[in-house]
Amino acid sequence: MPALKEAGIKVIHKCTSVRHSLKAEKIGCDAVSVDGFECGGHPGEDDIPNMILLPRAAEELSIPFVASGGMGNGKQLAAALALGADGINMGTRFIATKEAPVHQNVKDALIKATELDTRLIMRPLRNTERVLNNPAVEKIIALEQGKGQGLTIEDIKELVAGVYPKVMMEGDMDSGAWSCGMVAGLIHDIPTCQELIDRIMSEATEIINSRLKAFVA
Ligand SMILES: Cc1cc2nc3c(=O)[nH]c(=O)nc-3n(C[C@H](O)[C@H](O)[C@H](O)COP(=O)(O)O)c2cc1C
Repeated sequence: MPALKEAGIKVIHKCTSVRHSLKAEKIGCDAVSVDGFECGGHPGEDDIPNMILLPRAAEELSIPFVASGGMGNGKQLAAALALGADGINMGTRFIATKEAPVHQNVKDALIKATELDTRLIMRPLRNTERVLNNPAVEKIIALEQGKGQGLTIEDIKELVAGVYPKVMMEGDMDSGAWSCGMVAGLIHDIPTCQELIDRIMSEATEIINSRLKAFVA
């Protein structure tokens, strides 16, 4: 951390819990990205969704934080700000943009998916990952159920390791497990990043200026 600070680098640490966020604050991070249970990828093992995690982070943290996990539109930005965050971070949503350097099949899969289509894998290994369901993921879940707490990474390695080039570059969507958040249910198009951010900002602004103002009028 001192070397980063001396070089003038701002450090934003990603955390899935309040206790880890506090640790990040203690060791000198400038900000944290607080990742709720909805997130694509590794949500940790506490399973606290952002409706609780963000206001809890706001109760405890002194450094700024952005809301992460499930974020994809202006309603959610307005909500995240109301819950105490200073902004949002988006993972899954940015994959479904024109600029994202991934195969078109990945973008199409995100548009087709609903909020019901993600699964949690590797929980017995305490390395839980939220992924888009596919036949490979169903095989992993069956193996996990069969082996129970006796599961080792060797049992599922082929279905989780080295999968990204096949999925993201070759568009072989069923070759293994790949991270995807519940926000897939809110992804209905493939805008440019500029269009996406402009839309999120104008939707959030409209909500804050009209809907929320009307609430207190
Ligand atoms: C395809 C994909 C790959 C990811 N890879 C990583 C990774 O290598 N390391 C990491 O810390 N987080 C990774 N994440 C998680 C993101 O950094 C971020 O925390 C998450 O996407 C936020 O949730 P959202 O997808 O609902 O926006 C990945 C997410 C996705 C969707």
